[in-house]
Amino acid sequence: MKDYELFSRETKAFIYGSQTAAVQRMLDFDYMCRKDSPSVVAMITPERGGFEKFFWGTKEIRIPRLTSISEASEQFPSADVMVNFASQRSAYEVTVEALNTNTIRTIAVIAEGIPERLERKLGELGKKLGKWIIGPATVGGVKAGAFKIGNAAGTMENIRMAKLYRPGSVGFVSVSGGLSNEAYNIIARNTDGLNEGIAIGGDAFPGSSLLDHLLRYEANPDIKMLVCLGELGGTAEYEIADALKDGRLTKPLVAWVTGTCAKVLPGQVQFGHAGAKADAANETADAKNQALREAGAIVPNSFDDYHLRIKETYEKLVADGVITPAEDFEPPSIPIDYNQAVAEKLVRRPTHFVSTICDESGEVHNYCGVPIDEVIEKNYGIGGVIGLLWFKKDIPVYARGFMEMVLQIIADHGPAVSGAHNTIVAARAGKDLISSLVSGLLTIGPRFGGAVNGAAEHFLYGLRNKLDPRQFVATMKGKNIRVQGIGHKLHTVENPDKRVEILKDYAKEHFKKTELLDYALSVEAVTTQKKNNLILNVDGCIGVLLVDLLHELDFSDKEIDEMISAGLFNALFVLGRSIGLMGHYFDQKRLAQPLYRHPLDDILYDVPDRPEKVG
Ligand code: ACO
Ligand code: LMR
Repeated sequence: MKDYELFSRETKAFIYGSQTAAVQRMLDFDYMCRKDSPSVVAMITPERGGFEKFFWGTKEIRIPRLTSISEASEQFPSADVMVNFASQRSAYEVTVEALNTNTIRTIAVIAEGIPERLERKLGELGKKLGKWIIGPATVGGVKAGAFKIGNAAGTMENIRMAKLYRPGSVGFVSVSGGLSNEAYNIIARNTDGLNEGIAIGGDAFPGSSLLDHLLRYEANPDIKMLVCLGELGGTAEYEIADALKDGRLTKPLVAWVTGTCAKVLPGQVQFGHAGAKADAANETADAKNQALREAGAIVPNSFDDYHLRIKETYEKLVADGVITPAEDFEPPSIPIDYNQAVAEKLVRRPTHFVSTICDESGEVHNYCGVPIDEVIEKNYGIGGVIGLLWFKKDIPVYARGFMEMVLQIIADHGPAVSGAHNTIVAARAGKDLISSLVSGLLTIGPRFGGAVNGAAEHFLYGLRNKLDPRQFVATMKGKNIRVQGIGHKLHTVENPDKRVEILKDYAKEHFKKTELLDYALSVEAVTTQKKNNLILNVDGCIGVLLVDLLHELDFSDKEIDEMISAGLFNALFVLGRSIGLMGHYFDQKRLAQPLYRHPLDDILYDVPDRPEKVG
């Protein structure tokens, strides 16, 4: 790059601070300028390393997060720009470190509120080291078609409208970022566009002055006219007037100093920027406009005519053959972020997930439409929650009570049953809670705990087909199918299962009728004639009573059959028994039980002396 250039299409930069939005805007600008690669090569974020994802067009790319300026400089020696987003508390120290880093030549300091004595020190250090500081208290600037500092130039729409994606013939400098954005549009509408625009920042001691940048533009052969927008306060514009008079500036300069309204306001007025206060008569906007006018700048009578003077100056330069208007092109469009497009209702897409039982997308999540706080306030209980999440119904209190009773009586049945056995063995093998729980749950099936579903299905089959109990038992026997819900390894007619008694009593007290239970009991009367342990077991009792309950809650046969095929009936056993299995896990952990190995004397070893040879 030439001495007068700070930025080019090859510029690589660091971003100091976690300003991901600013980085994305810089990458979108690069992309709109049809550059081959992003200008940001790394973020410098001392709080953490790693990387950050950004869009390059519609593709995602990763940009490293490095934790120090020195590390960044070593990894990316070609990066000579740093946009310093450090806050006013640390911006000075960070800028000094960057200035003292050999590979870094230009630093934009965004922070406002840096003490003036430190600002003056930064300016002196920058000049001493032959480096450029833009700011403090600035949004930065833009080299049209090449490089954009941080958030400078506003939205991508503003950038497109101001044609900043390609270089024009105008060099612009201002104090204010906001006024710069306005000026970029004025320049785009009245000339072939901006070549470079810098906002030096609104503090009293900027790291580089309006004149510093105008002199760069004067030396840049691609820039044919100069435009400046100053503001009341300070004397920077007199430096420009001097340069016009002594010939350091020869290109046509259209200038305006804002703040002329101050004269109609009572007393001295401090405008937005720290430096925007006319402490002396020569610091007023009128005085400075007049000085520029007298020095040969093109100064309108008011800001209203600013665009006219720019237009006239440009057109004359074109007529004189000094400017060949830059060719325009339609830049690549920048996809808008999906979330923004959704917010603006610009896009829609089919969903890949459906939930009709719980919605957490709002302020308070709800179960089938009942907000969670209401679930608690109205004492839905676990039975009510099962009603909402499993059956999608607000079920009555007696139905909630039935669910909760089932969960309580089915929670455990001792360490000897297959589920508890597996959980205990897994726990003693050192497995974690979930693995041990799952190993127990995996034994639930057609013989243990998993007969609730089958019982509902089998007894409904008999009832719907009007099979009398003997016919039903004989039919199932003939199909070589064990009646699910019948039989127990422990309980018999003489040693009934208390849980089954509790369930039957509850149903008799609360249910309107127990048609399927009555049918199952009639089947039990047949099976127990064969063997006294072929009783209606707890799985069977739960299964038939749940069918009776759902019928009372107006669920159709079709809905019940769908629940059976989905295994919903077994779910009550799984949910309840998980309490007991986890209990056994904790029990074994508390007891610090060693690895379990089955006793040899409890195994029949009937192994052949030698295997039969085949083939
Ligand atoms: N329907 C018809 N006949 C049966 C049934 C049944 N449900 N259960 C056992 N029998 C018969 C067997 O066919 C066998 O007859 P056979 O001697 O003519 O061959 C005889 O009874 C003994 O069978 P076993 O399997 O030795 O009996 P066991 O007492 O071990 O079976 C078990 C208990 C596993 C529960 C058995 O009754 C069964 O599989 N029932 C169906 C599944 C079920 O309901 N399980 C839930 C149990 S409760 C719970 O897990 C919480
Ligand atoms: C249980 O609830 O686990 C039992 O009914 C099964 C069994 O074998 O005891």
